[in-house]
Amino acid sequence: MIPGKFITLEGIDGAGKSTQLTWIVELLQRAGLQTVVTREPGGTALGEQLRALLLDKTMTMHAETETLLMFAARREHLDKVIIPALSQGQWVISDRFADASFAYQGGGRGLNVDKLSILEHWVQGELQPDLTLYFDVPVEVGMQRVSQIKNVDRFEKEQADFFQRVRAAYLDRARQFPDRIKIIDSSQSLAEVKAAVEQTLKDVLNHG
Ligand code: TMP
Repeated sequence: MIPGKFITLEGIDGAGKSTQLTWIVELLQRAGLQTVVTREPGGTALGEQLRALLLDKTMTMHAETETLLMFAARREHLDKVIIPALSQGQWVISDRFADASFAYQGGGRGLNVDKLSILEHWVQGELQPDLTLYFDVPVEVGMQRVSQIKNVDRFEKEQADFFQRVRAAYLDRARQFPDRIKIIDSSQSLAEVKAAVEQTLKDVLNHG
């Protein structure tokens, strides 16, 4: 029995999830909850080093190497951060988790979903987020936001067709797990996105 709750944020690059993160945490803290904020790939000393390799735009790697490194970072993250925090009754808010592997490596890179499911089960067992907020934007909107960034990373430099596949895989996954993954229309104004997130979180706080 794990007393804390596990919330993950997902979306294509430029979907605006990181902008929402700060006040989501504030909202949970105002409700008297203890929070741990973390991210993937990353969240541990080893995971952050793997992140640097994975995001390095001068690095080339096989899609399966990329996938294995994502899950290696996740294994460490679960062991060192996520499971200990949840066991202590804390709420863990992670900027990305395994849905990103299904979307980016499965959808984007075309990796076989059965292979991803094997890794998912190996690394996570039955553990899944209690709630995933998927920030959905059209690819053009995400790419327009990313184009403002000076130093794009290995994923951000991908083309529109890649992000179309990533978005389609996220939406497929949201349809597959409607109780866990809530779609937030992130092309709305910031205030509207905030209101939608707040409503979803209140539902979870009240019924969870
Ligand atoms: P971020 O920029 O949102 O922090 O995420 C880093 C990048 O890593 C983002 O482009 C998505 C990518 N990613 C994957 O491809 N697979 C994964 O499993 C995770 C967690 C992230």
